[in-house]
Amino acid sequence: MSLLRRISTAQGAPVRFWLDGQALTAMAGDTVLTAVLTQTTQLRRSEFSGMPRAGFCLIGSCQDCWMRLEDGTPLRACSTSIVEGMRLLSGTPATPLHQKASS
Ligand code: FES
Repeated sequence: MSLLRRISTAQGAPVRFWLDGQALTAMAGDTVLTAVLTQTTQLRRSEFSGMPRAGFCLIGSCQDCWMRLEDGTPLRACSTSIVEGMRLLSGTPATPLHQKASS
C-alpha cells in the first residue's frame, strides 16, 4: 500500500535506496518524498504526537517532511532528490529534527 501512485508512463532510470533497512527502488528525478510515498504511506512519525506524517506543503516550507539518513543527517523529503544508495530512517528521533537541523 502506498500514499502516492505514478500517473506518468515515462520511466526514468532506477535508483536503489534503503528505508529502515529495506531495499527499495525509486526513479531518477524523484524527491525523497516521492520515492518513499510511492512505496509506503508515511515518511515518519511526529516527534511530538507519534502520529504518522507525510508532508504538507511539498515546497520546503512547513517542516512536516523531515527524515533522517542512517548517519543522523536530517533532510527535507520534499526538497531533496533521492540518490543511489541513500539510507533513510522513518523512525522517531530522540531530538526533534527541526532543532538538529538548525544547530
Ligand atoms: S512537505 Fe512541507 S517542508 Fe516538506
